[in-house]
Amino acid sequence: PTLKVDRGANVTVPFQNNLSEETNIHWHGLLVPSTMDGHPKDIVQSGSSFNFNFTIDQRAGTYWYHPHPHGKTARQVVMGLAGFFIVNDDEEKALNFPSGDQELVLVIQDKKIENGQLTYSPLMNEIMTGYTGEYVLVNGIYAPFHNVATRYYRLRILNGSTARVYNIALSDNQPFHVIGADGGLLAQPVTVNTLLLGPGERADILVSFKNYMVGKEIYLTSKTFNGGTQGQQEFRLMKFVINLQADETFTVPSQLSVVQPMSPASSSRTRVMKIKGMMNGMSGNMGGSMGSGVHTINDKVYDIDRIDETVKAGATEIWEFDNSDGDEIHPMHIHGVQFQVIERTGGRGSLIASEQGWKDTVLVMPNEKVKVIMVFPQEKGVFVFHCHNLEHEDNGMMLNYEII
Ligand code: C2O
Ligand code: CU
Ligand code: CU
Repeated sequence: PTLKVDRGANVTVPFQNNLSEETNIHWHGLLVPSTMDGHPKDIVQSGSSFNFNFTIDQRAGTYWYHPHPHGKTARQVVMGLAGFFIVNDDEEKALNFPSGDQELVLVIQDKKIENGQLTYSPLMNEIMTGYTGEYVLVNGIYAPFHNVATRYYRLRILNGSTARVYNIALSDNQPFHVIGADGGLLAQPVTVNTLLLGPGERADILVSFKNYMVGKEIYLTSKTFNGGTQGQQEFRLMKFVINLQADETFTVPSQLSVVQPMSPASSSRTRVMKIKGMMNGMSGNMGGSMGSGVHTINDKVYDIDRIDETVKAGATEIWEFDNSDGDEIHPMHIHGVQFQVIERTGGRGSLIASEQGWKDTVLVMPNEKVKVIMVFPQEKGVFVFHCHNLEHEDNGMMLNYEII
């Protein structure tokens, strides 16, 4: 289900685990206490239940939820345990964005299907380069279409794939407007032709079909991009069929919200997180067997009981994700906070449109170093941060941090 709530709401989700295995729920992007965050240690055993309860005190945005049992996250997400969590607020409502049939909430997930069944069993080399399914589904449908009028549409897009990165574009290269990212609205819309979206990231975009003739078909596509083998493929995600001539009075507002840029000088500390994949991990913990330990952060593999970083409550810090000698793609995600991306060096060398707003997941491409700045919560507790390539995460590319 897609959950929709207003800012300020108190949310209760009674959760009953009827699977034959352990699971839980993490509220990706929501600022909730650590006890409600679905930390891998807070598992709900098969047959057990847990009552999630928290108050929404953050900006309107496109958030989502999925399980977080260590080592099992990817498979459970692929099998279907993921959904949207939409937060609305008055600021956003006042902008009168396209809504109703003109607001589409789209999750993109690639799947492998054998004999009519979803399968999930990555091999070691697929864990390294990214486990990619041949079928790219939107909201669980292969090659879907949507009838549209000659109007504006708001697309809230989630990359819910384990490893695939999409370079979002329209088939005719028409520009579109990025209005929001992981943590809600940007200050101003940014007009682009393509937008790279890594696993876990969200994009809120406005697309205009105003200038098309009835009968025209336009595809939402993923274009090629620089970044390993998966960037070499271009493919269609879904089709829009213009089937109705309509008048459009909506215009894209020039100002959306206020995003106060955080000053690097306000940071009390910079932490470097050296991320290593398999190819550059030979000096790291290769372990003896195929399995965990080839994807690391600061040479460490996830240990559920070990606290890796200790952060003071309310502290402002800069974290740098360093993939400068890596050749794999790592979408890095931090629980418990929304951050601002302040710098990217190496690789693409600059920030993209969606990185001008609040984020909780940032794409770190091969050879890149990316710095983010954030204020940690006042409430104490243990959270994780990890690579949101879910094969990498399950492989141990995750650490704990504790707010004290
Ligand atoms: Cu969607 Cu720990 O993440
Ligand atoms: Cu998360
Ligand atoms: Cu990774």
